[in-house]
Amino acid sequence: MRADRGGPVIAIDGPSGSGKSTVARAVATRLGLRYLDTGAMYRAATAAVLAAGIDPDDAAAVAAYVPGVELEISTEPAPARVSAGGSDLTTEIRGPAVTAAVSAVSAVPAVRAAMVARQRRLIGAGGIVVEGRDIGTVVAPAADLKVFLTADPAARAARRALETDADVGRTEADLARRDRLDTSRAASPLAQAPDALVLDSTDLDPDAVVAEILAALDRAAAPAGQQP
Ligand code: DC
Repeated sequence: MRADRGGPVIAIDGPSGSGKSTVARAVATRLGLRYLDTGAMYRAATAAVLAAGIDPDDAAAVAAYVPGVELEISTEPAPARVSAGGSDLTTEIRGPAVTAAVSAVSAVPAVRAAMVARQRRLIGAGGIVVEGRDIGTVVAPAADLKVFLTADPAARAARRALETDADVGRTEADLARRDRLDTSRAASPLAQAPDALVLDSTDLDPDAVVAEILAALDRAAAPAGQQP
């Protein structure tokens, strides 16, 4: 991969609340790489659908609309800034209306095809940490390192509730609903690549997860014969 290209591609997949964003940004900062939050792209597409007055459960209308929406997303290692058709959606994509509708919009095959094509263009020659649900399996199966980050449902709900100031019980039920939709959809579901490094962050703080990822990247980069 890859040293002859623009740098490594690191794929970080996993369910909501596993700590992907914090860890992905920290890895990108440590290594001087770009960062792509693909969830923010699906959220921006969802915000555009809602703003256009389209029912997010009307798959045909969503499929006809989303591929034509012009999305812009930042790639520096910081919370993603996104806009669609020139309007800034950075705050709106984290709100409850988008969170409630994003699983339906992101399950539409035409939406996924459009997003995956854009994600591959943004990945370009590499030098990037990409977080999502299908990065190691579909978007960048030749990534230098694939990580599947998970945590038990109660830990994930507690983290999300803290971030969003919401009730933990409601958050856990909402995460369970989104996990179910994200893993059961036909088009590129949330899935673990067979060659992914699986990390459970239930009892690990973000620094420890970052350290594991950097060590795995060193191992992957070491020439054969120098492996411990
Ligand atoms: O990571 P997040 O919670 O911001 O993602 C929002 C939604 O987008 C999530 O419900 C699943 C979907 N998603 C996806 O289907 N594929 C990705 N690569 C990233 C996110």
